[in-house]
Amino acid sequence: MAGDLDIVRSVAELRARVKYWRDQGLSVAFVPTMGALHEGHLTLVRRGLELADRAVASVFVNPTQFGPNEDLSSYPRREARDAELLEGAGCGLLFAPTVAEMYPDDFSTTVTVAGVSAGLCGDIRPGHFAGVATVVAKLLLQCLPDVALFGEKDYQQLAVIRRLARDLDIPVAIEGVATVREADGLAMSSRNAYLSAEERAVAPAIHRVLLAVAGGLRAGDAASKLCAKAVADLLAAGFKSVDYVEVRDADTLAPLEWFDRPARVLVAARLGGARLIDNVAV
Ligand code: PAJ
Repeated sequence: MAGDLDIVRSVAELRARVKYWRDQGLSVAFVPTMGALHEGHLTLVRRGLELADRAVASVFVNPTQFGPNEDLSSYPRREARDAELLEGAGCGLLFAPTVAEMYPDDFSTTVTVAGVSAGLCGDIRPGHFAGVATVVAKLLLQCLPDVALFGEKDYQQLAVIRRLARDLDIPVAIEGVATVREADGLAMSSRNAYLSAEERAVAPAIHRVLLAVAGGLRAGDAASKLCAKAVADLLAAGFKSVDYVEVRDADTLAPLEWFDRPARVLVAARLGGARLIDNVAV
């Protein structure tokens, strides 16, 4: 169902377009993004079109989820290419608002999700998940789709968004989609563009150590021992530093030492100028 992609920049136009579809009895899937789109994002769009009649994507580099020393100004912005890719995937509407449209001068509200926002990336990037929760709450309420799709690549973010939608009774089904990887296992990410050729060759180590920790857990080894080895392996492979390698309960994100329920191994590590995150199921 690839067709024409329309681009709108105001909440009013977004609502009018979604209402037009709804008035025809069509269901709507929504894929929020920050752009610099890749096959991971497009997989979310295609999955959305399996679940609904029409797909809407947003591209908005959300300033409130970046820390003061993070990559807000250098984050890749490629709207024309993003629009082409979205159209090719069958997306019918792109919402690409300005910062002023999303955050007028007197904007005063922050949404914080306790519990699942703590630990992991929440500790390393203070305020990050409040920024994510605030913009995602706005986007979901602006679009009001039937279903919104988010990647498991950002596993803690997905947990935050599920809790947010449930706690605030936002009437949108939240659908998680498995991580899309390069052939060598590296999770696709807009931030992979920051890697030099040399760093790109080192980067798949992150997936290898995740699989090693998952295998060790299944064999009955302790998480703390496996994670310490994973950190050492990443540093030996050429990573500059490791923010965390942790094993968590797959649902609550509570720390786990032994594999006695569905678990997730999560990692964040720095390679050159990039901070890469990834996770796998156990
Ligand atoms: P962004 O990093 O652009 O990602 C947009 C969506 O694509 C997220 O749900 C993310 O988990 C998913 N995604 C990214 N890489 C993926 C991969 N390799 N496989 C599967 N899904 C992948 O995440 C954000 O933007 C922002 O925080 C946002 C939710 C849009 C709020 O600003």
